[in-house]
Formats: sequence, C-alpha cells, structure tokens
Amino acid sequence: MSRKRVAVLISGRGSNMAALIEAAKNKSYPADIALVLSNKSDAGGLITARANGITTEVVDHAPFGKDRAAFDAAMQAVLEKHGIDLVCLAGFMRLLSPGFTGHWQNRMLNIHPALLPAFKGLDTHRRALQAGAAVHGATVHFVVPEMDAGPTIMQGAVAVHATDSEDALGQRVLAVEHQIYPAALRLVAEDRVRVVDGRCLIDGVPVPDSSALLPSG
Ligand code: GAR
Repeated sequence: MSRKRVAVLISGRGSNMAALIEAAKNKSYPADIALVLSNKSDAGGLITARANGITTEVVDHAPFGKDRAAFDAAMQAVLEKHGIDLVCLAGFMRLLSPGFTGHWQNRMLNIHPALLPAFKGLDTHRRALQAGAAVHGATVHFVVPEMDAGPTIMQGAVAVHATDSEDALGQRVLAVEHQIYPAALRLVAEDRVRVVDGRCLIDGVPVPDSSALLPSG
C-alpha cells in the first residue's frame, strides 16, 4: 500500500508535529509527512520541519479577518496543491468552518490535551488540577464542526499526583501525546479505522470509553 500524504497543521512549537515526523522516518510507517502548514510565519515548528527537509507553507489568517471560510479555502488550495490525503491538526489554534471540516470528514485528526469529553478548550491541565481529577491525559479524534468533539481514535492516560503543578502534569501528558498521535495516525493511514454511528471502530472493535483507561504513570 502506498504511503498516505499527510499535512500537519501547526500554530506554535510543533512538538507533536516533530513526533509525527520522527515516526514517518521509518520506511514501514504508512504515512509520509508531505507538508507542514502554519497560520503563523513565526511558528517554531516551521524551523523544525525545514530542518527535517519537510516542505512548509504559511497561510496567515490575519488578512482574512473574521472570514473563516475564505481562510479555510486558502488552506484547502494549498492542501490540494500538495495532493494531501490526510490532515493532522497539531496545536493548530484556529476554529475551522463546517465546509472545511466536512470536506475532510474522517480524514482530519486532532490531538487535544485532555481525556475528551472532559476539559474541552484551553488550560486543560490547570482545570484538571482544579477539578481534582485523579486521571488526566490526551485524545486523538477525528475533527467535526464542533470544537474538541468528534469520534475518538485513541486516548492515553496519566495519573494526577497530589503534588502536581500545571507544568509537571502538562509535561507527562505531552509525553503521552507524542506516543498516541503517531500510533493513531498509523491506524488511520492503514485504513483500519471506521466511523459508525459517531464512534470509531478499529479493526471492527469499538474504541473503549475513557472511563476504561488506566493511567500509565
Ligand atoms: C498540544 O498539547 C496539543 O495537544 C494542544 O496544543 C499543544 C501544542 O503543542 N492542542 C490543543 O489544545 C487543541 N485543542 P505542540 O505545538 O508542541 O504540539
């Protein structure tokens, strides 16, 4: 099977992007990181991508103002130019229009630093600590129009320690993100993930609810 052409969309440092690039260096990995696209020309991840010989593009959202559909159309043109099969959002901090998410339905992944459906949105580690969560983690899911929703492909959990700072907890979750994002993209690129009634089946087996997760550290 030929490797899927993946675009990674970033807005910042791109550590998840780097984890995907590392995974794709293995010739047996079913996806090729064909493009890194940023909405910010100063995103640190662009430097990492170029250092790894990955093609980069920038579509600045600012000139589009509130016209999300026009910004998304500009991104779509770039993705088509590069013959992209799958899109991975990796710290891409823009809301997307329904037209764009619809076009990429079940072909666009996102990583979120919480065990969805808990803690959608920003400041997830601080909110998990404030809520007294015993378990926290990260989720890779298909993107739907609603933010931080959509069928879960893979989750990874960590135990929350009584002594945790926001940073310490965030670092353990980030380490989990770097494991589950390449693993989830592998499953999708190998065509092993189907969405039935809003839920992912992997090799025909439903992804377990996050309540079934045991923390790894
Ligand atoms: C990651 O923790 C990612 O899960 C989060 O932004 C960070 C980006 O870091 N994404 C979201 O919060 C999206 N809702 P990175 O640029 O080093 O990958």
